[in-house]
Amino acid sequence: MPKIAVLPGDGIGREIIPEALKVLQAALEDCPVKFEFDRYLIGGAAIDEVGKALPAETLDACKKADAVLLGAIGGPKWDTLPAKERPELGALLPIRKELGLYANIRPVKMIPSLISASTLREEVVKNVDMVVIRELTGGIYFGEKGRNENPKAAYDVLLYHEDEIRRIIELGFETARGRRKKLCSVDKANVLESSRFWREIAEEVAKEYPDVELMHMYVDNAAMQLVRYPEQFDVIVTENMFGDILTDLASMLGGSIGMLASASLSGKKGLYEPAHGSAPDIAGQNKANPLATILSAAMMLRYTFDLNEEADRIEQAVAKVLDQGCRTADLAKPGDKVLGTKEMGDAVVAAL
Ligand code: NAI
Ligand code: MG
Repeated sequence: MPKIAVLPGDGIGREIIPEALKVLQAALEDCPVKFEFDRYLIGGAAIDEVGKALPAETLDACKKADAVLLGAIGGPKWDTLPAKERPELGALLPIRKELGLYANIRPVKMIPSLISASTLREEVVKNVDMVVIRELTGGIYFGEKGRNENPKAAYDVLLYHEDEIRRIIELGFETARGRRKKLCSVDKANVLESSRFWREIAEEVAKEYPDVELMHMYVDNAAMQLVRYPEQFDVIVTENMFGDILTDLASMLGGSIGMLASASLSGKKGLYEPAHGSAPDIAGQNKANPLATILSAAMMLRYTFDLNEEADRIEQAVAKVLDQGCRTADLAKPGDKVLGTKEMGDAVVAAL
């Protein structure tokens, strides 16, 4: 029986995770595969209960599970703890590292009824439908870093190993193959040797995917193209720091933070979570938008369990409730009827 470790965490994490579970249950009702869902402590909730942001039991369960579904962690209550004990540094970064989650995937899709929520013009964003894949455990963030004293200087090394590049490029091709078959590899090969290497490997891997069209783009141009003509992109694959910057940029093409799903993958195994945090300002008030978490759960079905049909149904149900005018506070305009977290979850279940 496939196992899913469920980590609600803190703040709105405890409100949005139950809605995602409700939706998963409804979407999987007729699925012959039965799943085991087990809840574990993480973050501030774990500090309060057992004195540690990432208890060994939780990490162990996540290692054994096929997938992890995470709400959000952190909050003012734990902000005064020493850095390494705090939920973010004590749990979030170690869990990603321990699980070897080398690929961060963020789909950016404009849902027609939310076009007016974007900061960009309708004709620019209306057909946005892309996936950005960021390499998550290599590159300049993990390279040697340090300082020299005389003369004073500081350095960060951008190093990529062949296998690190190959596995993320392959994921790019696989993802594109399941979509519109267009892969854009973003680099800075006009300047960086690591990017030239990246490009060579991309070309090599491309031979195994003759059905997918590969193009290369320099990162500065990619930033410009993302706001000029974003619909040209199907799948983007890029290194760690470029991806960090471009995913934040791309996220604004889709509307509200409450809509943004994400997956961090290591092969088939994945950690799925909304892109936002624990939103202490609205926690405990049934105000949070659960859709980013519900869409993250759909990603889990698609990527880890190959349940594409069920994932499609969840995404379609989300689009449908938005079409029907269902809005949580973050999506609402004056005059809109505002739904609570639970009511939004119920609406998605009904649409399924
Ligand atoms: P945040 O994403 O929690 O909130 C930013 C703003 O967006 C707030 O006004 C919040 O009300 C709103 N918001 C966020 N998610 C929403 C949703 N689903 N529906 C409606 N409104 C939503 O970021 P912030 O305030 O910077 O951080 C709060 C805490 O969360 C901190 O402790 C931070 O470290 C932690 N955090 C945790 C993350 C994680 O668990 N992966 C990621 C980011 C932050
Ligand atoms: Mg970032």
